[in-house]
Formats: sequence, C-alpha cells, structure tokens
Amino acid sequence: MLDYLRNSAFISVRDVGLFLASARSDARLESLRRDGPAAAAFDRLYADAAHNDPWASGRPQYQYQRRKYDALARLLPKRRYRRALDLGCGLGLFSERLSCCADQVLGIDISEVAIGRAAERTRRAGNVELRQGDILDLGPELDGSFDLVVVADTIYYLPQPIQDTTLKALAARISELLAPDGILLVANHYFPMPNAETRLTRRIHQSFQWSPRLTLFSEHKGAFFLASLLGPVAAPA
Ligand SMILES: C[S@@+](CC[C@H](N)C(=O)[O-])C[C@H]1O[C@@H](n2cnc3c(N)ncnc32)[C@H](O)[C@@H]1O
Repeated sequence: MLDYLRNSAFISVRDVGLFLASARSDARLESLRRDGPAAAAFDRLYADAAHNDPWASGRPQYQYQRRKYDALARLLPKRRYRRALDLGCGLGLFSERLSCCADQVLGIDISEVAIGRAAERTRRAGNVELRQGDILDLGPELDGSFDLVVVADTIYYLPQPIQDTTLKALAARISELLAPDGILLVANHYFPMPNAETRLTRRIHQSFQWSPRLTLFSEHKGAFFLASLLGPVAAPA
C-alpha cells in the first residue's frame, strides 16, 4: 500500500475520467464479444470510440497512461535494441516510444482499426512496422528474432474464461520469439486490493515465471500496474 501512496503523484484527479472511460469500454467490449469474433469486436470498439481511443490512452488531458508508459520505458535495460516487438500494440503509443531505442519495431494488434491509427501515429518515426494479428496465432517467421518483446495490458483481453493452460501456452510461445539476449516486458493492471483483475494479472505473470524457457530478472509494482522483466534461460554450455 505504501508503494501506491508514494506513487500517488502519478495520478491526477482528472485521471478518474480515464478510468471511467476504460470501464465503459470494457463493458461495451464484453457485449460486442458475445455478438461475434474478437477481431470484429475490437474493431467496432475502436471505430466507435471518441478519437478511436476506447481506453483514452492517448488523450492529452489524462496523465496516467503517459506516466505509466514513462515508468515502463524506464524499466528497460538501457541499450540499443535491434528489433522490438509490441504485442497488442493498440494505437502504437508504446511502439512509438520503442522506435527511439530500437532499430526496428514491429507492432501487432488484433484490431485493423487500431493498426491503421498506430500506422498514422508512427509514420514519422520511419522504423515501425504494424501488422494485424492475433497473439494466440503468432507465425514461425517471428521466432528468435526479437531482442525486446513487450506485452502490455493485452493478455487479459483474451477470450474468457482464461485458463492457466492458455496462459502457459502463450508464455511458452512468446518465449520462442526472443533472441538469446532478449528481454521480455510483461505489464498488466494491478490494484492494492485482490480484485478479479489483480488475481488474473497474478496468474498471467506466474505463467511467464513458470515457463521453463524464461527466467525472471525483476518484478515492479507501480500505480496501478505490475511489470515483470524476463529473459530466456541460458542454453547449457
Ligand atoms: C488496452 S489495449 C493496450 C494497448 C497497448 N498495449 C498499450 O499499452 O497502449 C489492449 C489491446 O490488445 C489488443 N488485443 C486484444 N486481444 C488481442 C489478441 N488476441 N491479439 C492481439 N491483440 C489483441 C486490443 O485490440 C487492444 O488494442
């Protein structure tokens, strides 16, 4: 709890609007998903949202998400990355940040609408490629080619209920994308009370920690997120 109080400057009173917008979008998403496939539901959500931004992540009046991206970026080991992957990249806000510290960035999102907006946002950077795709169906061409993989606030949007077997299979698949010197950043909502979201976040992070191909470097709690930094287990000499 102390950590959260220390971090209270992270959030402004105005940011309540962001949390309300997010809750509204999550409720709408739930009903859209009952009507059809996940990609169509996310497309509808993005298409109908003000500024195509259902979670208000890029709205300038809110500081929370910007500060959270700052905090996540600070967790990354300071080095030049060859190829970074942003899984569930949404509007490309974090992909854009990665474009400064990586030679190439690939952003993948299930929503074509989000990918279109992310492409507009990152065009000027010149080193960001965007692709529509499902993190549950990542092609073999991606294997072993990223020295940085980020998956932020995406896994809890997988089809519900999310079983541990799905989470472990996903963690194993994502571990295969890492180069031998790769870094994996996993970040998800985390609240001081053990509500359903926080319990799911714990299960997600545990699945990555349990993966025999991954080792946990560090874990960080912020307001209101949990971030884990992991890397591939070194191959025996
Ligand atoms: C809350 S947004 C987070 C976006 C971004 N990671 C960020 O932190 O700004 C969640 C994103 O996950 C994407 N998503 C959900 N399920 C997905 C899946 N199975 N494969 C790829 N992307 C997915 C959604 O389209 C949405 O853009």
